[in-house]
Amino acid sequence: MSVFNVDNLEIKDELSLIPLKNVVLFPRVAIPLLVQRPKSVNSLNFAASQDKLVVFVAQKNIYDDIDQKDLFRVGTVGRVFEIHRLPDGSAKINVEGIARVRIKDILQVEPFFKAKIEPIKAVPTRGVEAEALVRATVEQFKKLTEIRGMPAVVQDLIMALNQVKDPEQVVHLIVINLNLELKDQQDILETIDPIDALKKINFFISREFEIIEAEKNVVKETRKQLGKMQKEVFLREQMKSIEKELGIDGEKGEIDTLKAKIKSAGMPKETEAKALKELDRLERMPSFSPEISYLRTYLDWLVELPWSKKSGDKKLELKNSEKILNEDHYGLRKAKERVLEYLAVQKQVGKIKGPILCFVGPPGTGKTSIGKSIARALGRKFIRVSLGGLRDEAEIRGHRRTYVGALPGRIVQGIHTAGTRNPVFMLDEIDKVGIDFRGDPSAALLEALDPEQNFSFSDHYLEVPFDLSDVLFITTANILDTIPPALCDRLEIIEFPGYTEDEKLHIAKQFLLPKLFREHGLKDKTLAFTDQVLADIIRKHTREAGVRDLERQIAAIIRKVTRRIVEKKAKGKISVNSKTLHTYLGPIKYSHQEAETKDEVGVATGLAWTPVGGEVLSIEASKMPGRGKLLLTGHLGEVMRESVQAALSFARSQAAKLGIKEDFYKEDIHVHVPSGAIPKDGPSAGIAMATAIISLLTNRPIKKDIGMTGEATLRGKVLEIGGVKEKVLAAHRAGLKIVILPADNKKDIAEDVPREIRRDLKFKFVKDMDEVLKIALKR
Ligand SMILES: Nc1ncnc2c1ncn2[C@@H]1O[C@H](COP(=O)(O)OP(=O)(O)OP(=O)(O)O)[C@@H](O)[C@H]1O
Ligand SMILES: [Mg+2]
Repeated sequence: MSVFNVDNLEIKDELSLIPLKNVVLFPRVAIPLLVQRPKSVNSLNFAASQDKLVVFVAQKNIYDDIDQKDLFRVGTVGRVFEIHRLPDGSAKINVEGIARVRIKDILQVEPFFKAKIEPIKAVPTRGVEAEALVRATVEQFKKLTEIRGMPAVVQDLIMALNQVKDPEQVVHLIVINLNLELKDQQDILETIDPIDALKKINFFISREFEIIEAEKNVVKETRKQLGKMQKEVFLREQMKSIEKELGIDGEKGEIDTLKAKIKSAGMPKETEAKALKELDRLERMPSFSPEISYLRTYLDWLVELPWSKKSGDKKLELKNSEKILNEDHYGLRKAKERVLEYLAVQKQVGKIKGPILCFVGPPGTGKTSIGKSIARALGRKFIRVSLGGLRDEAEIRGHRRTYVGALPGRIVQGIHTAGTRNPVFMLDEIDKVGIDFRGDPSAALLEALDPEQNFSFSDHYLEVPFDLSDVLFITTANILDTIPPALCDRLEIIEFPGYTEDEKLHIAKQFLLPKLFREHGLKDKTLAFTDQVLADIIRKHTREAGVRDLERQIAAIIRKVTRRIVEKKAKGKISVNSKTLHTYLGPIKYSHQEAETKDEVGVATGLAWTPVGGEVLSIEASKMPGRGKLLLTGHLGEVMRESVQAALSFARSQAAKLGIKEDFYKEDIHVHVPSGAIPKDGPSAGIAMATAIISLLTNRPIKKDIGMTGEATLRGKVLEIGGVKEKVLAAHRAGLKIVILPADNKKDIAEDVPREIRRDLKFKFVKDMDEVLKIALKR
């Protein structure tokens, strides 16, 4: 062991060592330290028993338990000049840095670190450069402390710095006041040349300046953002008070008008209370609240609904209404009668809880348009809402106000558009309402339609009930089958069965032509249609139960004629006849099945119902050698196939009685129904099937001008069928003379079939197959 001298102090080159976390001890700087680790306490104790000198070295990490590898190789010998022992064995000490030393070796690790050290020779610095650097550095540091607003201690330090001439000491004094990271502090400690150290310090200080600048910008930016928002709020509030001051309180005025509107809207008491409550909420809302616009929309809805507005004269003349209905539509007796009854009852009692009307029928039969006409006859507003494809209950009942962009449902919207509380409200396509996971719209519909509950219809958006009991609801559907059962139960069905050719002709002449002439700006005299042409259009260019396509075809002709008139290619009176028809409409689109031309074996004429009206069907049966197979062709549906089977079984069971050869089942039987591409189904071809088969097997021809329809049972009973009117019309159109019908359908003939048709046809009502065969088969 040897000794070296620093500032007249003898220092042994073997000293106990204390590792430092996060701090570096510099020469001629005093700092307080807390000695906690047992090894460090041992080092301290050893030093205390000797010359109180310890070498302090920073550690590269922050762990308690460290290895010699974790220590930097340059440290500072310090003199411990005060020790406070703490109860837990640790100690608070004050240390003064004496000299920088290099760690040459770690001599021991346990029970405390002991190191072999050598002094680091200071580099002498004198001269202008050092002087200038010191001054500049101190100046910079001063600025930094000013910006930072550092405590008084630092002010004293700066005074002291001005006295100190040793650059190394200046460096060390500044460095401990810069909050540098450990690695930077250690870097300064290891920098031997004070000039270099000063330069580094300068760099650290300017870096600090940059950081401060950046911090400032961040703060400024945030403040700007906040300021803008506050400014807006502030300005708005100021505007309010200025307006108040000047007596032009816009908002107040608006609130007042709204209040007046609420009071005069004729709302029920509870509704008015609710509206006023919401208005109060609106008034008290700060003007920047986003809820304001929602609330205002809501109040507008409430105010604008026709809570007590009605239209239509109470002194309505029944006669007059009837006249209007007849003005707009031909026929449709049942619908018109029902409406007039409704009117009569309403006149008697003021208000009726009638069932909901439902107009059912094929497209274009006048359901929607008679709805309009009814509204006209009653002097009420007409509203039409299509329910086709409706899946969501919310579409009927609205969305709750908490949804963004919420609105009332279609019912309330309709009433709003109508502007009266008693419009004729048509709900079209009620048969196309769907049901899925978003709830069952039909339940909501029921609540709107059912007279037992609709005096307080609740819309989710409105939140207050609306009385729908004065609304005349009319629903329309093409078919009954798909209407939800609960709904169907409440409906009063009025059928629109479709028109006969004759009726169509009347409609065309009396309603469609005048209407289309008007729409096209033509005079009646310019263009003439003969009855024959209209009949041809109806028969050969359209196939429908209603008159929509007919209207379209006539419109097409009128368009073409109008063009010719405008282009001056035609003058005077133009008439369309059967010969020129095809130049307007092109070739014939449909040809109807005509009656058979001669009596034949195995060919029966059936009558069928289709959505576009009635049709006659030839049912052909033929046989061939085989093994008793039954062949069915012509796109027959399940029910129709089964009725052929049943017909065949009936024939077999009656073989003896009918005089059928016993071995007939050795032959294959083929039943075919043209036109093969059109799907056909239903039970009503039963008797025609059976007749064709029996004719075939008995080899007796069927009379050519007989058409038949009816369901047959296995034992040969004939059952009632539907669609009588359409079927009879088809038979008439096809030129048949006799129609065989089930006895139970006798009532329909009188009821539905127009007289001129009844006159042309002979009806045979039958109870069983025997009667059918007696009429249809030749001897
Ligand atoms: N009896 C009639 N008299 C006069 N015009 C009629 C008559 N029936 C239908 N029309 C006319 O036929 C056209 C189609 O009728 P509308 O639109 O009412 O059919 P719809 O029964 O509602 O059909 P959809 O089921 O397709 O809605 C309308 O221009 C209507 O004026
Ligand atoms: Mg319609």
